[in-house]
Amino acid sequence: MIIAANFKTNKTRSETGQYLEEVETCITENGITDDVLVFPSATALQRHGGAVVMGAQNVYPVENGAFTGEIGLDQINEFDIKTVLIGHSERRHIFGESQESIAEKFDFFKAQGFTIVYCIGEPLEIREEGSEALMSYLDDQLEGIDVHYEKLIIAYEPVWAIGTGLTPDESDIGLIHGALRQKIDKPLLYGGSVKVGNAQEILAIDNVDGALIGSGALKAEDFCQIIAYAKAIK
Ligand code: PGA
Repeated sequence: MIIAANFKTNKTRSETGQYLEEVETCITENGITDDVLVFPSATALQRHGGAVVMGAQNVYPVENGAFTGEIGLDQINEFDIKTVLIGHSERRHIFGESQESIAEKFDFFKAQGFTIVYCIGEPLEIREEGSEALMSYLDDQLEGIDVHYEKLIIAYEPVWAIGTGLTPDESDIGLIHGALRQKIDKPLLYGGSVKVGNAQEILAIDNVDGALIGSGALKAEDFCQIIAYAKAIK
């Protein structure tokens, strides 16, 4: 399984360091062999030699240049970071990233051989239109994306479930992941209000290969518990 924590705009550099220490201890003590990914904020990126794979939440698809406020490839290469999150709904909806710019970002990091955790997910009004509208919306979010890229991981995260405490019914997650599996032969993570209290059930659903977790992973202890659940399910 693949268990990933997305810190978003939370945690300082020192808090991130402390968190990583706790997670490394938990991985060692529990003999975890699952993939554990952590996406800290840009100011907390660091070289990390442990079992946890560190990824960047967002990188502008350039080596360097005049792009005020952005970080580029040179800045993450400094820390040997080879994993990036692309297409997160907060990037799409709050920062207005278009499918075209997301696909460009994807191509850039694919060419660099990065592991890409690529996020898709529908807003509530689309879900209410029914499963055909939902799947067609997800298809649009895959436009221009090479779903055969060997280092691709997909995260299905319904927008209305992110940070809200709401999750789809387990049967709905199963259906959507099953439909995605028909098209994409890559690990499929579920994201959106995963926490200690529901992780066991969600990770046990067919075609769920892991989870991308925001608020529910902010405490190292909780993240470790979820990692331990993933280990038990395998
Ligand atoms: P959440 O966020 O776990 O806080 O809902 C998940 C995500 O946005 O990746």
